[in-house]
Amino acid sequence: MPDWLYSDTVKDHFTNPRNVLLDDESSFPADARGQTGNIKCGDQMLMLLRIKNDVIVDVRWKTYGCASAIASTSMLSEIIKGMNIRDAYTVRPEDLVEKLGGLPDYKIHCSVLGDKALRTAIDDYLEKTGRAGMLKETAAEICRCLGITDKDIENAYHNGARTWEQLQQATKIGTVCGGCKEKALELLHEFTHIYG
Ligand code: FES
Repeated sequence: MPDWLYSDTVKDHFTNPRNVLLDDESSFPADARGQTGNIKCGDQMLMLLRIKNDVIVDVRWKTYGCASAIASTSMLSEIIKGMNIRDAYTVRPEDLVEKLGGLPDYKIHCSVLGDKALRTAIDDYLEKTGRAGMLKETAAEICRCLGITDKDIENAYHNGARTWEQLQQATKIGTVCGGCKEKALELLHEFTHIYG
């Protein structure tokens, strides 16, 4: 049998995931709820947050994603406890990958699910507390199906994505209806002009 492609930290979080929602949603009354992914792609993520004075005090999550999605969301759930929502909003998949001791390249896109669900949950909380879009205004949504923003594309560019395939590998963009491809490629082109 070939060696595992995953670090010990990934294995630990995969086999013993933290803060998983074991029962149905009613078992964890939450202040915020975020769901992302598309069942057509075979992956979905639900994140529930308890928030006090804008600080995340507890979290539960559930996914139908793969080992990488499970390990990275488990890590994310540990990192964000005790974090202000503004800081939590800026946590990015690459922060999780680093803390996990790396993921195989073709698996990095799996780590975006938890991060997306987290931001959707924080947006939900802001809406409930009369501050809709307070953090979102810094990012424009490019892919409606997966909630991928211009910031995510910019981030992927900084991490080396230069082609549509590389952008998809980094973010999963365009893997549902594909309607965002043109706009996303325009942005990629724009970033090449700005930073290239
Ligand atoms: S808008 Fe549907 S996949 Fe991006």
